[in-house]
Amino acid sequence: MNKLLTFNSLSYRTSLQPRMVQPSLTVRKEGVGRCTKVHRNINLEKLRNGYLFTEIARRELQHLEKYPNAKVISLGIGDTTQPIPDNISMSMANYARALATAEGYRGYGAEQGNKELRKAIAETYYKDVLVKESEVFVSDGSQCDIARLLLVLGSNVTVAAQDPSFPVAYIDSSVIVGQAGDLEDEVGKYCNIEYLECGPGNNFFPDLKGTSRTDIIFFCSPNNPTGHAATQNQLEQLVEFARNNGSIIIFDSAYAAYVTDGCPRSIYEIPGAREVAIEISSFSKFSGFTGVRLGWTVVPEELLFSSGFPVINDFNRIICTCFNGASNIAQAGGLACLSSEGLEAVHSVVDYYKENTKILIDTLASLGIKVYGGINAPYVWAHFPGRKSWDVFAEILEKTHITTVPGSGFGPGGEEYIRISGFGHRESILEASRRLEALF
Ligand SMILES: Cc1ncc(COP(=O)(O)O)c(C=O)c1O
Repeated sequence: MNKLLTFNSLSYRTSLQPRMVQPSLTVRKEGVGRCTKVHRNINLEKLRNGYLFTEIARRELQHLEKYPNAKVISLGIGDTTQPIPDNISMSMANYARALATAEGYRGYGAEQGNKELRKAIAETYYKDVLVKESEVFVSDGSQCDIARLLLVLGSNVTVAAQDPSFPVAYIDSSVIVGQAGDLEDEVGKYCNIEYLECGPGNNFFPDLKGTSRTDIIFFCSPNNPTGHAATQNQLEQLVEFARNNGSIIIFDSAYAAYVTDGCPRSIYEIPGAREVAIEISSFSKFSGFTGVRLGWTVVPEELLFSSGFPVINDFNRIICTCFNGASNIAQAGGLACLSSEGLEAVHSVVDYYKENTKILIDTLASLGIKVYGGINAPYVWAHFPGRKSWDVFAEILEKTHITTVPGSGFGPGGEEYIRISGFGHRESILEASRRLEALF
């Protein structure tokens, strides 16, 4: 049997789908060369096979081989599709042009990020909750900062994460740094990781009374994939739980810009959170910077290790050691996003995606499919009771040429669900709705 799976870059484009996942990856289960004497990292050996979105791209490619003329609509991987507003892209272009001049040239910047941008993030995002500019660390995206945070914390901490949740960042990164035990195949969970079940039965918030203490609690709101934004009351419970247990919350607010119904956008809106929470966030889904790469992490001065040592000092150390600062061109773009003109432009793009999710919600609901999310997030979480999520994914792809994401890819709690992304051009969303109506 050929153990070499090769998928080449997808180069086709359709009118409905100007952007595609572009896997260009060679997965070998066994090498063809000569062995060294170096052992493979046992933590990487523990990882479950494959990366979810790579597997989805592989299935999409297989589908296209079967139906070469199909106009596949990708509502799977949550990548943004709308152009970056002109004033923001111009600020990056101007910065890049200036690099060609003696006056405009800049080399390394501060590892923590451009001071002006840190100030703008503190003032724009945290104006009501007081985060100091010095507590904001600009990054090349929140996924990278999660890995760096885990490096700060080391392999001896215990970890909890929502189930379902964004698996790559929290669970896989924890496994890689050695915080997890082996994968228990029957249940699809890693030993030593506390899975916080979040579903419609508990209003997408874990039963904290039945939850064991862990050092770290990953919490994402609005959540990817369920789209649920935790309420003020839920976050108060979470902060109280962390304070009582002496735990640290790593709060992922990557989708905060999508919150419209009054739920908190930042964990620091909750009294007492500064002593127990780190917040990671991103320009990716807020301003279409998935490819530009820009995010930030807030580490409050009051957050201390058990010895009394400030966490911010160690985070700063890791940033200076393992990261040399975000691209100055991307940071120029970030600053433009936070100008009043920039904010207006990016919010109108966010509204566009939210209109897309509304179309999807209305379509699915009219077909009698129970849907969650989509109000405070660009994702719709659709329930197919009694069915395996990979089967639903396969049926939808086969019969409608639409890619979604099977819920089980986000953890065992995602079984029976699929995630449908509202990132897409309106034309594609309307066409996807028509095809779903025809199928169901
Ligand atoms: C919840 C969540 N956090 C973080 C990320 C990664 O964001 P970034 O592009 O800033 O690395 C994503 C990306 O989809 C996400 O869904």
